[in-house]
Amino acid sequence: MKVLLLGATGQLGWELTRTCPADIEIHTCDHPKVDFTSTLSIRNCVNRDRFDYIINAAGYTAVDKAEAEKGLARQINAEAVELLAGLCKNNNIKLVHISTDFVFKGTHYKPYLPDDITEPQSVYGRTKLAGEKAVRRILGKDAFIIRTAWLYSVHGHNFVKTMIRLMDEKDQLTVVDDQVGTPTWAKGLANVIWASIATCQQGINHWTDAGSASWYDFAVAIQEEALALGLLSKEIPIIPINTDDYPTPAKRPYYSILDKRYFLKKTGIRPVHWRKQLRKMLKELVGEII
Ligand SMILES: NC(=O)c1ccc[n+]([C@@H]2O[C@H](COP(=O)([O-])OP(=O)(O)OC[C@H]3O[C@@H](n4cnc5c(N)ncnc54)[C@H](OP(=O)(O)O)[C@@H]3O)[C@@H](O)[C@H]2O)c1
Repeated sequence: MKVLLLGATGQLGWELTRTCPADIEIHTCDHPKVDFTSTLSIRNCVNRDRFDYIINAAGYTAVDKAEAEKGLARQINAEAVELLAGLCKNNNIKLVHISTDFVFKGTHYKPYLPDDITEPQSVYGRTKLAGEKAVRRILGKDAFIIRTAWLYSVHGHNFVKTMIRLMDEKDQLTVVDDQVGTPTWAKGLANVIWASIATCQQGINHWTDAGSASWYDFAVAIQEEALALGLLSKEIPIIPINTDDYPTPAKRPYYSILDKRYFLKKTGIRPVHWRKQLRKMLKELVGEII
């Protein structure tokens, strides 16, 4: 089976590359060789070979910057995705498209089901939702979308690596305590994507690691685990604060736990608790630093 992976240089794309099963022939087309702002480059990339699947792990992911770069975020997260879906339809290619918990308002206080009402609060969320809608409109029942949340990996920029750097540099940290989600190791998600391809999944699906946490809880866990692994040498106070005390250009969901029950039922895959996954990722990070 031939799979074209878009966004291979990102966190998830990198994990997909290194977890790719032996029986899959993976092709990557990296940015800027493929540029989602250029129709021609997307067409050239897709027409390069006869692919069975395209995994779209590319995206405009700078949530705050997107508020000032609406047009670019829309081109990458919505218009390019619409074009990709059309190319997949015309060439009989299956598309796996990655989306986000930011399509929800986040005031629900119970886990979001895939068909719950979407109400994005940010440019990023709105453009990702527009991408989802294009995929569903064009591919119908063949659309395969996975919404996920709070991704991190040893590769790329993310909360875990930023926290470890700040914990090393600073004497204390303040972290938001009133936004709750599920930290998710991109490597775990990559394995789930490969398993989904092997079992031909369809529809809108939710996947994160198990459990939930606030950013503050996540930061506390990162410090504890990093100290235990020798990634940090001193403990610093971490102080919980409210979102109002840490204003950002983009509004984020207060509560964006994704309900995975239907996907678990369909696939039989069991999520691992986020804290266990965090420990595994940090062990990999130790290996990278040594
Ligand atoms: N990160 C999260 O917490 C999170 C949460 C929920 C959902 N998601 C979704 O999961 C997917 C993967 O996220 P991630 O964290 O792996 O993202 P990431 O690390 O930011 O990687 C994004 C990828 O998109 C590529 N890209 C950016 N602009 C492009 C353009 N104009 N043309 C072509 N490619 C372009 C990047 O290439 P360059 O590196 O060369 O720019 C990179 O390979 C995205 O769809 C994202 O919306 C992420």
